[in-house]
Amino acid sequence: MKDRPQSQLTVLGIETSCDETAAAVVRVAGGGVEVLSSVVASQIADHAPFGGVVPEIAARAHVEAIEAVIAKAMNDAGVDFDGLDGVAATAGPGLVGGVMVGLSAGKAIALARGLPLIAINHLEGHAVSVRLTEAVDYPFLLLLVSGGHCQLLAVDGVGACRRLGSTIDDAAGEAFDKIAKTLGLPYPGGPALERLAEGGDPDAFPLPRALLGRKDCDFSFSGLKTAAARLAERLESEQERRDLAAAVQGAIARQLAERSDRAMAIYAHERAGRDLRFVVAGGVAANRTVRQALETTARARGFTFAAPALGYCTDNAAMIALAGAERLALGLTDGLDAVARPRWPLDEAAARDNPTHLPGRKGAKA
Ligand code: KG4
Ligand code: ZN
Repeated sequence: MKDRPQSQLTVLGIETSCDETAAAVVRVAGGGVEVLSSVVASQIADHAPFGGVVPEIAARAHVEAIEAVIAKAMNDAGVDFDGLDGVAATAGPGLVGGVMVGLSAGKAIALARGLPLIAINHLEGHAVSVRLTEAVDYPFLLLLVSGGHCQLLAVDGVGACRRLGSTIDDAAGEAFDKIAKTLGLPYPGGPALERLAEGGDPDAFPLPRALLGRKDCDFSFSGLKTAAARLAERLESEQERRDLAAAVQGAIARQLAERSDRAMAIYAHERAGRDLRFVVAGGVAANRTVRQALETTARARGFTFAAPALGYCTDNAAMIALAGAERLALGLTDGLDAVARPRWPLDEAAARDNPTHLPGRKGAKA
């Protein structure tokens, strides 16, 4: 055991589940969180020519970058390996070739330095990301919107999530990316579409409103995607292109707000009279129109609203380090036999018993 006070935990986080190689050092002390370093090496340039992430290219790029990224995170933080209390690495869900690179690096450091390993669910990282910069206590209602996931979750505490709703087809970020592609925008499409939408009129094109009136909290973006693709074929001017981008962004934001509103009603009923907190996280939470729509909805329902700092919405390792520190504080560590999991739902029971996606060959999707 280290001679530092155990009320202070310093954890190295490693993230390699998609197209960023990331490492960060986070210190948790007396309830406060300090990000000592956060390094994100993006592979966007490697994948851009293919219009999306190529798993084999991603895995190789992680292998090439991982050592330098971890070294830079340690150096920027000004701590050496003896100054760490644990190593947290993403163990899934994600592209398994990449996950294995970061998880193996984490295991190697843990083994060499006699440190506990914490195998982190990438989605749990997004779930805690708001706590890197905001004082948001558990429990809270979470909308997790990224490139691979679109879910409403009741986050009751560390590792305790109940799924209230999920997408029945695409994730919100996937919808942004695919529609951006039909508008001729480069990968990743979400941020590019947000920029294009700046000079556009969101009411210029009527777009379908999915699942309106449905009592559950699920999402669907396939109708919007098809409608946008048809309209994109007939665009006649740059202004129309901007208008369509604004309309698509508005439609996605509206659906996210409408489905969140349903979940807030259910959640508020469950928690009658107690504090109500709403959090949005994941890459799509970086979108200003989405944030605005959700904040308005949350306030109208009597919820406080919080979102991560912009740099912690998209994939990063600070959120993985914080998830690791929170688990470590509760004694929740993993063995060196922890496996990389391509699929790993946060609420495993809901994914198994009530799948919105049919389970694939590798088990329940998120
Ligand atoms: O959380 P993230 O970095 O990776 C996953 O875990 O999937 O999310 C990436 C997704 C991509 O689909 C990207 O287009 C979307 O988040 N995204 C945005 C914005 N920034 C990132 N979508 C809309 N507006 C943005 N500003
Ligand atoms: Zn992510």
